[in-house]
Amino acid sequence: MNSITTPSYSVHFNETAYVALNSHLAKSNYSKIFILVDENTHNCCLPIFMSKIEGEYDFEIIEIEEGEINKNIATCTQVWEVLSELDADRKSAMINLGGGVVTDLGGFVASCFKRGIEFINVPTTLLSMVDASVGGKTGVDLGPLKNQVGIINQPQIVLVDTDFLNTLDQRQLNSGFAEMLKHGLISDAAYWETLKGLSDFDNLDDYILRSVAIKNEVVQQDPTEQHLRKILNYGHTLGHAVESYFLESQDHELLLHGEAIAVGMILEGYLSHKLTGLGKNALEDIKATFLERYKKVEFEKKDIDTILTLLKFDKKNSHGNINFVLLKKIGEPAIDIKVTPDLLEEAFAYYAE
Ligand SMILES: NC(=O)c1ccc[n+]([C@@H]2O[C@H](COP(=O)([O-])OP(=O)(O)OC[C@H]3O[C@@H](n4cnc5c(N)ncnc54)[C@H](O)[C@@H]3O)[C@@H](O)[C@H]2O)c1
Ligand SMILES: [Zn+2]
Repeated sequence: MNSITTPSYSVHFNETAYVALNSHLAKSNYSKIFILVDENTHNCCLPIFMSKIEGEYDFEIIEIEEGEINKNIATCTQVWEVLSELDADRKSAMINLGGGVVTDLGGFVASCFKRGIEFINVPTTLLSMVDASVGGKTGVDLGPLKNQVGIINQPQIVLVDTDFLNTLDQRQLNSGFAEMLKHGLISDAAYWETLKGLSDFDNLDDYILRSVAIKNEVVQQDPTEQHLRKILNYGHTLGHAVESYFLESQDHELLLHGEAIAVGMILEGYLSHKLTGLGKNALEDIKATFLERYKKVEFEKKDIDTILTLLKFDKKNSHGNINFVLLKKIGEPAIDIKVTPDLLEEAFAYYAE
């Protein structure tokens, strides 16, 4: 595996990652380096990571509690206070070593602290390797509402060491795999076919590289999501509403991000069939593929009603309209499609069939 380099940041893989990191640290002259972890990445990933660092630096470890439920402004405040107590200055840097919660929150904390210190992302989940750590979206949830507060700001570098996946459980791997399937659906039908056929996750390196390349290509063309970048939100308009609903609800088990967007991709597949010409066979293929890998979620009428009210918080909305990314066919997206409420209910009925 090699590197993906852009004018604003680079993603380095496996063997080249630590070479790039060590050379970056050697030339950056950071006053202090803060490594943000959660309890799991503290145990599973930090010892490996530290063993690869060459040279002497002033490191401080900051640990947050794991899980989406802690991706909020209260956790940011705790981290800002620790940074301040430990005399972080504008030449300090932050290394976010963790899944999407750590990279999203850490990127946001770094981007705001003293109006911005440099940060490096070291993703440790499949989801954060193929998606969350790349592209510069940082932020936190507001109550149950996903990613409502945040900023787009690029990390200095992203280091993908796929060995970190060895300690990740199958459910978390599947969650990340949903974003990879999404990459196929929005841009590459052949990639979709390949991923569909994968029976084990023993060596995902080539696919991780392919997914990062797809995401990167899109982000490069439209870093601030004025048009093309919206396609990365396929499955996320309804998926985020479903995820928010489960975050808030007392009587449902939490859904992982990838599990929620897997539901969203089936629902939005149905909308695509109705509105943008996605063929019936392709729709059935999408539904079967996701239901084979992800447990079917039972929605009652009252769940659906609440989920639909959550749609008004979607970040792609403008002027009171809910804008969807749909598919014309597998590999070919359409953006800014308006959908009527009755069709949304039909989509849930199709999911339940
Ligand atoms: N910024 C973006 O562009 C973007 C894109 C997609 C998703 N996201 C965000 O990413 C988040 C989800 O990320 P996630 O799925 O990585 O969740 P996560 O960070 O909560 O990690 C999942 C779990 O795995 C544990 N973990 C992490 N690495 C481990 C390892 N190597 N071994 C063992 N355990 C490990 C974590 O402690 C956590 O319990 C969501 O908040 C989502 O909104 C952001
Ligand atoms: Zn996502």
